[in-house]
Amino acid sequence: MTAPDPVSRRRTFAIISHPDAGKTTLTEKLLLFGGAIALAGEVRAKANRRQTRSDWMGIERERGISVVTSVMTFEYGGCVFNLLDTPGHEDFSEDTYRTLTAVDSAVMVIDAAKGIEARTRKLFEVCRLRDIPIVTFINKLDRESRDPFDLLDEIEKTLALDTAPITWPLGSGRDFAGVYDLRHDVVRRLEAADAPLKVTGPNDPALTALLPPLEAQTIQDQVELARAALKPFDKQAFLEGHLTPVLFGSALRTFGVRDLIDALAEFAPPPRGLEAASRHVDPRESKMSGFVFKIQANMDPNHRDRIAFVRVSSGKLVRGMKAKLVRTGKNLALNAPQFFFAQDRHVADEAYAGDVVGIPNHGTLRIGDTLTEGEDLVFRGVPSFAPEILRRVKISDAMRAKKLREALQQMAEEGVVQLFLPNDGSNAIVGVVGALQLDVLVERLAAEYGLVVALETSRFELARWVSAENPAELEKFSRAYPTSIAVDLDGAPVYLAASAWDLRYEQEKWPEITFADIKDYQ
Ligand code: G4P
Repeated sequence: MTAPDPVSRRRTFAIISHPDAGKTTLTEKLLLFGGAIALAGEVRAKANRRQTRSDWMGIERERGISVVTSVMTFEYGGCVFNLLDTPGHEDFSEDTYRTLTAVDSAVMVIDAAKGIEARTRKLFEVCRLRDIPIVTFINKLDRESRDPFDLLDEIEKTLALDTAPITWPLGSGRDFAGVYDLRHDVVRRLEAADAPLKVTGPNDPALTALLPPLEAQTIQDQVELARAALKPFDKQAFLEGHLTPVLFGSALRTFGVRDLIDALAEFAPPPRGLEAASRHVDPRESKMSGFVFKIQANMDPNHRDRIAFVRVSSGKLVRGMKAKLVRTGKNLALNAPQFFFAQDRHVADEAYAGDVVGIPNHGTLRIGDTLTEGEDLVFRGVPSFAPEILRRVKISDAMRAKKLREALQQMAEEGVVQLFLPNDGSNAIVGVVGALQLDVLVERLAAEYGLVVALETSRFELARWVSAENPAELEKFSRAYPTSIAVDLDGAPVYLAASAWDLRYEQEKWPEITFADIKDYQ
Protein backbone atom coordinates (compact mmCIF):
# COMPACT_ATOMS: atom_id res chain seq x y z
CA MET A 1 0.00 0.00 0.00
CA THR A 2 1.33 3.46 -0.81
CA ALA A 3 1.40 5.97 2.00
CA PRO A 4 -1.14 8.78 1.64
CA ASP A 5 0.40 11.86 0.05
CA PRO A 6 1.05 14.28 2.91
CA VAL A 7 0.45 17.34 0.74
CA SER A 8 -2.97 16.23 -0.52
CA ARG A 9 -4.09 15.65 3.07
CA ARG A 10 -3.33 19.15 4.22
CA ARG A 11 -5.80 21.99 4.58
CA THR A 12 -4.31 25.26 5.74
CA PHE A 13 -6.92 27.90 6.50
CA ALA A 14 -7.89 30.91 8.59
CA ILE A 15 -11.19 32.18 9.91
CA ILE A 16 -12.25 35.67 8.94
CA SER A 17 -15.10 37.47 10.66
CA HIS A 18 -16.28 40.63 12.32
CA PRO A 19 -15.70 40.65 16.11
CA ASP A 20 -18.40 38.75 17.99
CA ALA A 21 -19.60 36.72 15.03
CA GLY A 22 -18.28 33.62 16.79
CA LYS A 23 -14.76 33.02 15.50
CA THR A 24 -13.38 31.96 18.88
CA THR A 25 -16.29 29.70 19.64
CA LEU A 26 -16.05 28.08 16.24
CA THR A 27 -12.28 27.64 16.56
CA GLU A 28 -12.80 25.93 19.88
CA LYS A 29 -15.40 23.58 18.44
CA LEU A 30 -13.31 22.74 15.40
CA LEU A 31 -10.49 21.80 17.75
CA LEU A 32 -12.82 19.62 19.76
CA PHE A 33 -13.60 17.68 16.62
CA GLY A 34 -9.92 17.40 15.97
CA GLY A 35 -9.37 16.04 19.48
CA ALA A 36 -7.28 19.02 20.59
CA ILE A 37 -9.34 19.58 23.70
CA ALA A 38 -6.66 21.01 25.93
CA LEU A 39 -5.95 23.69 23.42
CA ALA A 40 -9.59 24.59 23.01
CA GLY A 41 -9.63 25.76 26.60
CA GLU A 42 -6.73 28.07 25.92
CA VAL A 43 -8.51 29.66 23.00
CA ARG A 44 -11.34 30.55 25.33
CA ALA A 45 -9.00 31.84 28.01
CA LYS A 46 -7.49 34.12 25.46
CA ALA A 47 -10.84 35.26 24.13
CA ASN A 48 -12.15 36.18 27.54
CA ARG A 49 -9.42 38.71 28.02
CA ARG A 50 -9.25 39.97 24.54
CA GLN A 51 -11.32 43.06 24.29
CA THR A 52 -9.89 46.03 26.10
CA ARG A 53 -6.67 47.83 25.51
CA SER A 54 -5.08 46.99 28.85
CA ASP A 55 -6.19 43.41 28.56
CA TRP A 56 -4.55 43.16 25.22
CA MET A 57 -1.25 44.31 26.65
CA GLY A 58 -1.64 41.71 29.38
CA ILE A 59 -2.11 39.00 26.84
CA GLU A 60 0.92 40.01 24.93
CA ARG A 61 2.93 39.59 28.08
CA GLU A 62 1.77 36.04 28.20
CA ARG A 63 3.04 35.34 24.78
CA GLY A 64 3.22 31.65 25.42
CA ILE A 65 -0.47 31.47 24.72
CA SER A 66 -0.32 33.60 21.60
CA VAL A 67 2.46 31.50 20.19
CA VAL A 68 0.64 28.27 20.82
CA THR A 69 -2.61 29.54 19.36
CA SER A 70 -1.04 31.19 16.34
CA VAL A 71 -1.21 27.84 14.60
CA MET A 72 -3.52 25.05 15.57
CA THR A 73 -2.95 21.76 13.85
CA PHE A 74 -5.34 18.89 14.18
CA GLU A 75 -6.33 15.78 12.30
CA TYR A 76 -9.80 14.83 11.28
CA GLY A 77 -11.21 12.47 8.72
CA GLY A 78 -7.84 11.68 7.18
CA CYS A 79 -6.90 15.34 6.73
CA VAL A 80 -4.36 17.45 8.59
CA PHE A 81 -5.84 20.87 9.27
CA ASN A 82 -3.65 23.87 10.00
CA LEU A 83 -5.81 26.65 11.39
CA LEU A 84 -3.91 29.92 11.44
CA ASP A 85 -5.19 32.33 14.03
CA THR A 86 -5.54 36.02 13.34
CA PRO A 87 -5.63 38.75 15.99
CA GLY A 88 -9.03 39.61 17.39
CA HIS A 89 -8.40 43.34 17.50
CA GLU A 90 -8.78 45.22 14.26
CA ASP A 91 -5.81 47.44 15.05
CA PHE A 92 -3.68 44.43 14.29
CA SER A 93 -5.22 43.83 10.91
CA GLU A 94 -1.82 44.05 9.23
CA ASP A 95 -0.90 40.88 11.03
CA THR A 96 -4.10 39.33 9.74
CA TYR A 97 -3.38 40.37 6.16
CA ARG A 98 0.01 38.75 6.35
CA THR A 99 -1.39 35.59 7.87
CA LEU A 100 -3.81 35.35 4.96
CA THR A 101 -0.83 35.03 2.61
CA ALA A 102 -0.01 31.75 4.31
CA VAL A 103 -3.39 30.01 3.93
CA ASP A 104 -4.98 28.14 1.05
CA SER A 105 -8.58 28.83 2.03
CA ALA A 106 -10.62 30.76 4.58
CA VAL A 107 -13.81 30.27 6.54
CA MET A 108 -15.96 33.39 6.62
CA VAL A 109 -18.13 33.43 9.74
CA ILE A 110 -21.25 35.56 9.57
CA ASP A 111 -23.68 36.31 12.39
CA ALA A 112 -27.09 35.22 11.09
CA ALA A 113 -28.80 38.22 12.67
CA LYS A 114 -26.32 40.77 11.38
CA GLY A 115 -25.17 39.60 7.98
CA ILE A 116 -22.04 41.04 6.41
CA GLU A 117 -20.31 43.51 8.73
CA ALA A 118 -17.52 46.00 8.06
CA ARG A 119 -14.55 43.89 9.13
CA THR A 120 -15.80 40.83 7.27
CA ARG A 121 -15.97 42.86 4.10
CA LYS A 122 -12.46 44.22 4.51
CA LEU A 123 -10.95 40.81 5.21
CA PHE A 124 -12.88 39.34 2.35
CA GLU A 125 -11.32 41.90 0.03
CA VAL A 126 -7.87 40.78 1.14
CA CYS A 127 -8.81 37.17 0.39
CA ARG A 128 -10.10 38.18 -3.01
CA LEU A 129 -6.89 39.98 -3.79
CA ARG A 130 -5.08 36.70 -3.24
CA ASP A 131 -7.74 34.45 -4.83
CA ILE A 132 -8.31 32.58 -1.60
CA PRO A 133 -11.38 30.34 -1.79
CA ILE A 134 -13.93 31.00 0.94
CA VAL A 135 -16.28 28.65 2.76
CA THR A 136 -19.08 30.54 4.51
CA PHE A 137 -20.47 29.56 7.89
CA ILE A 138 -23.60 31.43 8.93
CA ASN A 139 -23.58 31.23 12.70
CA LYS A 140 -25.95 31.73 15.64
CA LEU A 141 -29.00 30.14 14.03
CA ASP A 142 -30.11 29.29 17.56
CA ARG A 143 -30.93 33.00 17.85
CA GLU A 144 -33.48 34.99 15.90
CA SER A 145 -31.93 35.26 12.45
CA ARG A 146 -32.49 37.00 9.18
CA ASP A 147 -34.15 35.21 6.32
CA PRO A 148 -31.57 32.87 4.73
CA PHE A 149 -32.39 34.06 1.20
CA ASP A 150 -31.79 37.60 2.38
CA LEU A 151 -28.40 36.65 3.81
CA LEU A 152 -27.31 34.92 0.62
CA ASP A 153 -28.51 37.86 -1.39
CA GLU A 154 -26.45 40.19 0.76
CA ILE A 155 -23.30 38.09 0.26
CA GLU A 156 -23.87 38.10 -3.49
CA LYS A 157 -24.52 41.83 -3.70
CA THR A 158 -22.04 43.28 -1.23
CA LEU A 159 -19.17 40.91 -1.96
CA ALA A 160 -19.95 40.12 -5.60
CA LEU A 161 -19.57 36.46 -4.67
CA ASP A 162 -21.91 33.71 -5.85
CA THR A 163 -23.34 31.48 -3.15
CA ALA A 164 -24.13 27.78 -3.18
CA PRO A 165 -25.87 26.61 -0.02
CA ILE A 166 -24.79 23.16 1.08
CA THR A 167 -27.17 23.03 4.01
CA TRP A 168 -30.34 24.98 4.72
CA PRO A 169 -31.56 26.05 8.16
CA LEU A 170 -34.82 24.67 9.47
CA GLY A 171 -36.14 27.73 11.30
CA SER A 172 -34.15 29.88 13.68
CA GLY A 173 -34.07 31.07 17.27
CA ARG A 174 -36.17 29.02 19.63
CA ASP A 175 -37.63 27.16 16.65
CA PHE A 176 -34.29 26.19 15.16
CA ALA A 177 -34.69 22.48 14.47
CA GLY A 178 -31.55 21.72 12.49
CA VAL A 179 -30.37 21.83 8.90
CA TYR A 180 -31.34 20.18 5.66
CA ASP A 181 -28.46 18.80 3.64
CA LEU A 182 -29.45 19.96 0.15
CA ARG A 183 -27.16 17.58 -1.69
CA HIS A 184 -28.07 14.37 0.09
CA ASP A 185 -31.64 14.92 1.31
CA VAL A 186 -30.60 14.33 4.86
CA VAL A 187 -31.84 16.20 7.91
CA ARG A 188 -29.55 16.87 10.82
CA ARG A 189 -31.44 17.66 13.97
CA LEU A 190 -30.23 20.08 16.59
CA GLU A 191 -31.23 17.66 19.32
CA ALA A 192 -29.64 14.62 17.67
CA ALA A 193 -26.90 15.95 15.43
CA ASP A 194 -25.13 12.63 15.23
CA ALA A 195 -28.19 10.72 14.02
CA PRO A 196 -28.89 12.04 10.51
CA LEU A 197 -32.37 11.43 9.20
CA LYS A 198 -32.64 10.36 5.56
CA VAL A 199 -35.72 11.90 3.96
CA THR A 200 -37.39 11.63 0.57
CA GLY A 201 -37.41 15.41 0.10
CA PRO A 202 -38.42 18.62 1.84
CA ASN A 203 -42.02 17.48 2.15
CA ASP A 204 -41.25 14.21 3.88
CA PRO A 205 -43.63 13.84 6.86
CA ALA A 206 -40.65 12.94 9.06
CA LEU A 207 -39.38 16.46 8.49
CA THR A 208 -42.80 18.03 8.99
CA ALA A 209 -42.97 16.39 12.39
CA LEU A 210 -39.78 18.18 13.50
CA LEU A 211 -40.98 21.66 12.66
CA PRO A 212 -43.29 24.01 14.57
CA PRO A 213 -46.77 23.36 13.12
CA LEU A 214 -47.50 26.96 12.18
CA GLU A 215 -44.31 27.40 10.22
CA ALA A 216 -43.67 23.93 8.90
CA GLN A 217 -45.04 24.58 5.45
CA THR A 218 -43.18 27.87 5.02
CA ILE A 219 -39.89 26.29 6.01
CA GLN A 220 -40.44 23.30 3.76
CA ASP A 221 -41.30 25.59 0.84
CA GLN A 222 -38.07 27.46 1.46
CA VAL A 223 -36.02 24.28 1.37
CA GLU A 224 -37.78 23.27 -1.82
CA LEU A 225 -37.02 26.66 -3.35
CA ALA A 226 -33.40 26.57 -2.19
CA ARG A 227 -32.96 23.15 -3.73
CA ALA A 228 -34.59 24.05 -6.99
CA ALA A 229 -33.58 27.65 -7.56
CA LEU A 230 -30.13 28.17 -6.11
CA LYS A 231 -26.84 27.49 -7.80
CA PRO A 232 -25.36 24.06 -7.29
CA PHE A 233 -21.86 23.91 -5.90
CA ASP A 234 -19.29 24.42 -8.65
CA LYS A 235 -15.85 23.46 -7.43
CA GLN A 236 -13.94 25.31 -10.10
CA ALA A 237 -15.77 28.57 -9.42
CA PHE A 238 -15.07 28.07 -5.70
CA LEU A 239 -11.36 27.46 -6.25
CA GLU A 240 -11.16 30.58 -8.36
CA GLY A 241 -12.81 32.60 -5.61
CA HIS A 242 -16.05 33.38 -7.47
CA LEU A 243 -18.39 31.19 -5.46
CA THR A 244 -18.72 30.26 -1.81
CA PRO A 245 -20.39 27.17 -0.41
CA VAL A 246 -22.59 28.19 2.51
CA LEU A 247 -23.34 26.23 5.66
CA PHE A 248 -25.60 27.16 8.54
CA GLY A 249 -25.23 26.31 12.19
CA SER A 250 -24.60 27.31 15.75
CA ALA A 251 -21.03 27.18 16.97
CA LEU A 252 -22.22 27.59 20.54
CA ARG A 253 -24.42 24.50 20.27
CA THR A 254 -21.68 22.66 18.34
CA PHE A 255 -24.11 22.33 15.50
CA GLY A 256 -23.15 22.48 11.84
CA VAL A 257 -19.50 22.37 12.83
CA ARG A 258 -19.04 18.85 11.57
CA ASP A 259 -20.66 19.88 8.27
CA LEU A 260 -18.14 22.68 8.07
CA ILE A 261 -15.13 20.52 8.75
CA ASP A 262 -16.41 17.93 6.27
CA ALA A 263 -16.84 20.69 3.70
CA LEU A 264 -13.26 21.83 4.26
CA ALA A 265 -12.00 18.27 3.84
CA GLU A 266 -14.07 17.82 0.69
CA PHE A 267 -13.78 21.18 -1.05
CA ALA A 268 -10.92 23.21 0.37
CA PRO A 269 -7.78 22.98 -1.71
CA PRO A 270 -4.60 21.31 -0.49
CA PRO A 271 -1.47 23.49 -0.42
CA ARG A 272 -1.13 25.43 -3.60
CA GLY A 273 1.93 26.08 -5.67
CA LEU A 274 3.60 29.44 -5.18
CA GLU A 275 5.05 31.97 -7.54
CA ALA A 276 8.65 32.81 -6.80
CA ALA A 277 10.32 35.61 -8.67
CA SER A 278 12.11 33.13 -10.94
CA ARG A 279 9.66 30.23 -11.30
CA HIS A 280 6.60 28.39 -10.06
CA VAL A 281 7.22 26.21 -7.02
CA ASP A 282 5.16 23.05 -6.71
CA PRO A 283 4.30 21.89 -3.17
CA ARG A 284 5.31 18.33 -4.07
CA GLU A 285 8.85 19.21 -5.09
CA SER A 286 11.35 17.28 -3.01
CA LYS A 287 13.43 20.26 -1.91
CA MET A 288 12.24 22.29 1.03
CA SER A 289 11.24 25.91 0.62
CA GLY A 290 9.21 28.23 2.80
CA PHE A 291 8.60 31.86 3.68
CA VAL A 292 8.23 33.88 6.87
CA PHE A 293 4.81 35.50 7.20
CA LYS A 294 4.79 36.41 10.86
CA ILE A 295 7.24 37.17 13.63
CA GLN A 296 6.39 36.83 17.26
CA ALA A 297 8.76 38.43 19.73
CA ASN A 298 9.20 37.22 23.22
CA MET A 299 8.83 39.89 25.83
CA ASP A 300 11.87 38.99 27.84
CA PRO A 301 13.98 42.15 27.45
CA ASN A 302 17.22 40.31 28.14
CA HIS A 303 16.84 37.85 25.33
CA ARG A 304 15.73 39.34 22.09
CA ASP A 305 14.23 36.05 21.01
CA ARG A 306 11.86 35.91 18.17
CA ILE A 307 9.87 33.14 16.66
CA ALA A 308 9.52 33.36 12.92
CA PHE A 309 6.50 31.55 11.54
CA VAL A 310 7.45 29.82 8.33
CA ARG A 311 4.91 28.40 5.97
CA VAL A 312 6.47 25.43 4.26
CA SER A 313 5.85 25.79 0.52
CA SER A 314 7.47 22.64 -0.81
CA GLY A 315 9.41 19.59 0.25
CA LYS A 316 9.91 18.53 3.83
CA LEU A 317 11.28 20.60 6.68
CA VAL A 318 13.17 18.38 9.07
CA ARG A 319 14.54 19.16 12.49
CA GLY A 320 18.26 19.79 12.30
CA MET A 321 18.43 20.57 8.61
CA LYS A 322 20.35 23.52 7.22
CA ALA A 323 18.41 26.09 5.28
CA LYS A 324 19.60 28.95 3.16
CA LEU A 325 18.25 32.36 4.02
CA VAL A 326 18.03 33.74 0.52
CA ARG A 327 18.10 37.44 1.49
CA THR A 328 21.55 37.14 3.06
CA GLY A 329 22.82 34.02 1.34
CA LYS A 330 23.76 32.58 4.74
CA ASN A 331 22.90 29.18 6.08
CA LEU A 332 20.70 28.73 9.10
CA ALA A 333 20.60 25.53 11.11
CA LEU A 334 17.02 24.63 11.97
CA ASN A 335 17.96 23.00 15.24
CA ALA A 336 14.92 23.78 17.26
CA PRO A 337 11.98 24.28 14.93
CA GLN A 338 8.67 24.25 16.75
CA PHE A 339 5.95 22.11 15.28
CA PHE A 340 2.41 22.78 16.33
CA PHE A 341 0.69 19.47 16.47
CA ALA A 342 -2.05 20.09 18.93
CA GLN A 343 -3.69 16.71 18.99
CA ASP A 344 -1.72 15.16 21.77
CA ARG A 345 1.01 17.74 21.96
CA HIS A 346 3.52 15.29 20.59
CA VAL A 347 6.61 16.70 19.08
CA ALA A 348 6.80 16.31 15.36
CA ASP A 349 10.11 16.19 13.57
CA GLU A 350 9.06 17.06 10.08
CA ALA A 351 6.66 19.35 8.32
CA TYR A 352 5.31 19.36 4.77
CA ALA A 353 3.98 21.96 2.37
CA GLY A 354 1.06 23.73 4.00
CA ASP A 355 2.43 23.28 7.52
CA VAL A 356 3.65 26.12 9.65
CA VAL A 357 6.78 25.84 11.74
CA GLY A 358 8.08 28.26 14.35
CA ILE A 359 11.80 29.01 14.03
CA PRO A 360 13.37 30.61 17.12
CA ASN A 361 16.02 33.17 16.20
CA HIS A 362 17.64 36.33 17.48
CA GLY A 363 16.64 38.71 14.75
CA THR A 364 18.07 36.84 11.77
CA LEU A 365 14.72 36.29 10.12
CA ARG A 366 12.31 38.96 9.02
CA ILE A 367 8.88 39.02 7.45
CA GLY A 368 8.95 38.04 3.80
CA ASP A 369 12.17 36.02 4.09
CA THR A 370 12.52 32.87 2.01
CA LEU A 371 14.25 29.71 3.22
CA THR A 372 15.40 27.05 0.77
CA GLU A 373 17.77 24.11 0.50
CA GLY A 374 20.13 26.25 -1.56
CA GLU A 375 18.19 27.69 -4.46
CA ASP A 376 17.85 31.46 -4.73
CA LEU A 377 14.09 31.51 -4.65
CA VAL A 378 12.23 34.62 -3.63
CA PHE A 379 8.55 34.31 -2.97
CA ARG A 380 6.53 37.32 -3.79
CA GLY A 381 3.49 37.92 -1.77
CA VAL A 382 3.75 38.95 1.86
CA PRO A 383 2.31 42.42 1.42
CA SER A 384 2.64 45.73 3.19
CA PHE A 385 -0.42 47.93 3.21
CA ALA A 386 -0.06 51.68 3.14
CA PRO A 387 -0.34 52.82 6.76
CA GLU A 388 -3.31 54.84 7.90
CA ILE A 389 -1.53 56.69 10.68
CA LEU A 390 1.92 58.30 10.42
CA ARG A 391 3.90 59.57 13.40
CA ARG A 392 7.31 61.13 13.80
CA VAL A 393 9.44 59.44 16.46
CA LYS A 394 11.28 61.84 18.76
CA ILE A 395 13.80 61.03 21.38
CA SER A 396 14.99 63.67 23.82
CA ASP A 397 18.43 62.15 24.33
CA ALA A 398 20.13 62.81 20.98
CA MET A 399 23.01 60.52 22.01
CA ARG A 400 20.70 57.58 21.64
CA ALA A 401 19.52 58.35 18.11
CA LYS A 402 21.56 55.51 16.64
CA LYS A 403 20.16 53.01 19.09
CA LEU A 404 16.66 54.22 18.27
CA ARG A 405 17.29 53.71 14.57
CA GLU A 406 18.36 50.12 15.24
CA ALA A 407 15.41 49.46 17.48
CA LEU A 408 12.95 50.87 14.94
CA GLN A 409 14.55 48.78 12.26
CA GLN A 410 14.01 45.66 14.35
CA MET A 411 10.41 46.58 15.14
CA ALA A 412 9.79 47.10 11.43
CA GLU A 413 11.36 43.74 10.59
CA GLU A 414 8.96 42.12 13.00
CA GLY A 415 6.05 43.91 11.39
CA VAL A 416 5.14 45.88 14.54
CA VAL A 417 5.23 49.13 12.55
CA GLN A 418 6.40 50.29 9.16
CA LEU A 419 9.43 52.50 9.10
CA PHE A 420 10.06 55.41 6.75
CA LEU A 421 13.38 57.23 6.80
CA PRO A 422 13.05 60.65 5.15
CA ASN A 423 15.74 61.41 2.59
CA ASP A 424 16.33 64.81 4.15
CA GLY A 425 17.63 63.15 7.30
CA SER A 426 14.80 64.33 9.55
CA ASN A 427 13.38 62.10 12.29
CA ALA A 428 12.13 58.65 11.36
CA ILE A 429 8.45 58.27 10.65
CA VAL A 430 6.52 55.19 11.66
CA GLY A 431 3.35 54.08 9.99
CA VAL A 432 0.62 51.81 11.30
CA VAL A 433 -2.77 50.58 10.25
CA GLY A 434 -4.24 50.62 13.78
CA ALA A 435 -3.46 52.94 16.69
CA LEU A 436 -2.80 50.10 19.13
CA GLN A 437 0.31 49.22 17.16
CA LEU A 438 1.73 52.57 18.30
CA ASP A 439 1.11 51.71 21.95
CA VAL A 440 2.90 48.43 21.45
CA LEU A 441 5.82 50.23 19.82
CA VAL A 442 6.21 52.73 22.65
CA GLU A 443 5.89 50.03 25.30
CA ARG A 444 8.38 47.74 23.64
CA LEU A 445 10.92 50.48 22.94
CA ALA A 446 10.87 51.30 26.64
CA ALA A 447 10.82 47.73 27.95
CA GLU A 448 13.24 46.09 25.55
CA TYR A 449 15.57 48.90 24.54
CA GLY A 450 15.27 51.38 27.42
CA LEU A 451 14.27 54.07 24.95
CA VAL A 452 11.68 56.62 25.96
CA VAL A 453 10.22 58.19 22.85
CA ALA A 454 7.50 60.65 21.98
CA LEU A 455 5.35 60.16 18.94
CA GLU A 456 4.43 63.44 17.30
CA THR A 457 1.89 64.13 14.63
CA SER A 458 3.67 64.41 11.38
CA ARG A 459 2.80 66.86 8.64
CA PHE A 460 2.17 63.85 6.47
CA GLU A 461 -1.02 61.86 6.35
CA LEU A 462 -0.42 59.29 3.66
CA ALA A 463 2.41 57.16 2.37
CA ARG A 464 2.62 55.60 -1.09
CA TRP A 465 5.32 53.45 -2.65
CA VAL A 466 6.46 55.17 -5.80
CA SER A 467 7.91 53.59 -8.89
CA ALA A 468 8.25 54.36 -12.58
CA GLU A 469 9.18 52.37 -15.64
CA ASN A 470 11.71 54.99 -16.50
CA PRO A 471 14.17 55.40 -13.60
CA ALA A 472 14.99 58.93 -14.74
CA GLU A 473 11.40 59.98 -14.18
CA LEU A 474 11.47 58.66 -10.60
CA GLU A 475 14.74 60.46 -10.05
CA LYS A 476 13.20 63.68 -11.31
CA PHE A 477 10.17 63.24 -9.06
CA SER A 478 12.37 62.55 -6.02
CA ARG A 479 14.43 65.64 -6.70
CA ALA A 480 11.32 67.77 -7.05
CA TYR A 481 10.16 66.84 -3.52
CA PRO A 482 13.28 66.34 -1.40
CA THR A 483 11.42 66.70 1.89
CA SER A 484 8.55 64.37 1.02
CA ILE A 485 10.52 61.33 -0.07
CA ALA A 486 11.57 58.60 2.30
CA VAL A 487 12.76 55.03 2.03
CA ASP A 488 11.15 52.05 3.71
CA LEU A 489 12.83 49.15 5.47
CA ASP A 490 13.98 47.65 2.19
CA GLY A 491 15.18 50.94 0.74
CA ALA A 492 12.15 51.30 -1.54
CA PRO A 493 11.16 54.93 -2.20
CA VAL A 494 8.01 56.25 -0.60
CA TYR A 495 6.18 59.49 -1.22
CA LEU A 496 4.74 61.08 1.90
CA ALA A 497 1.67 63.17 1.16
CA ALA A 498 0.21 65.86 3.38
CA SER A 499 -3.36 64.97 2.41
CA ALA A 500 -5.47 62.95 0.03
CA TRP A 501 -5.88 66.11 -2.00
CA ASP A 502 -2.13 66.53 -2.22
CA LEU A 503 -1.72 62.94 -3.34
CA ARG A 504 -4.36 63.27 -6.05
CA TYR A 505 -2.73 66.46 -7.27
CA GLU A 506 0.66 64.80 -7.61
CA GLN A 507 -0.83 61.73 -9.26
CA GLU A 508 -2.32 63.92 -11.94
CA LYS A 509 0.82 65.95 -12.32
CA TRP A 510 3.11 62.90 -12.62
CA PRO A 511 1.25 60.36 -14.77
CA GLU A 512 4.34 58.20 -15.27
CA ILE A 513 4.80 57.63 -11.55
CA THR A 514 2.91 54.78 -9.92
CA PHE A 515 1.70 55.52 -6.39
CA ALA A 516 1.02 52.12 -4.82
CA ASP A 517 -0.89 51.52 -1.59
CA ILE A 518 0.16 47.87 -1.37
CA LYS A 519 3.69 46.63 -1.59
CA ASP A 520 4.78 43.03 -1.66
CA TYR A 521 7.85 42.35 0.42
CA GLN A 522 11.17 41.84 -1.34
P1 G4P B 1 -15.42 36.34 18.12
O1 G4P B 1 -14.26 35.46 18.45
O2 G4P B 1 -15.82 36.29 16.69
O3 G4P B 1 -15.31 37.74 18.62
O4 G4P B 1 -16.71 35.74 18.85
P2 G4P B 1 -16.86 34.74 20.08
O5 G4P B 1 -16.66 33.34 19.64
O6 G4P B 1 -16.11 35.24 21.24
O7 G4P B 1 -18.42 34.92 20.31
C1 G4P B 1 -19.01 36.16 20.64
C2 G4P B 1 -20.23 35.91 21.47
O8 G4P B 1 -21.19 35.20 20.68
C3 G4P B 1 -19.98 35.05 22.69
O9 G4P B 1 -20.90 35.44 23.70
C4 G4P B 1 -20.36 33.66 22.22
O10 G4P B 1 -20.73 32.79 23.26
C5 G4P B 1 -21.53 33.97 21.32
N1 G4P B 1 -21.75 32.96 20.30
C6 G4P B 1 -20.84 32.41 19.46
N2 G4P B 1 -21.45 31.51 18.67
C7 G4P B 1 -22.74 31.50 19.01
C8 G4P B 1 -23.87 30.76 18.55
O11 G4P B 1 -23.80 29.94 17.66
N3 G4P B 1 -25.06 31.04 19.15
C9 G4P B 1 -25.19 31.95 20.15
N4 G4P B 1 -26.38 32.13 20.67
N5 G4P B 1 -24.14 32.63 20.62
C10 G4P B 1 -22.94 32.42 20.05
P3 G4P B 1 -20.50 36.41 24.87
O12 G4P B 1 -21.66 36.44 25.78
O13 G4P B 1 -20.01 37.69 24.32
O14 G4P B 1 -19.25 35.73 25.47
P4 G4P B 1 -19.19 34.50 26.46
O15 G4P B 1 -19.39 35.11 27.79
O16 G4P B 1 -20.26 33.54 26.07
O17 G4P B 1 -17.82 33.97 26.24
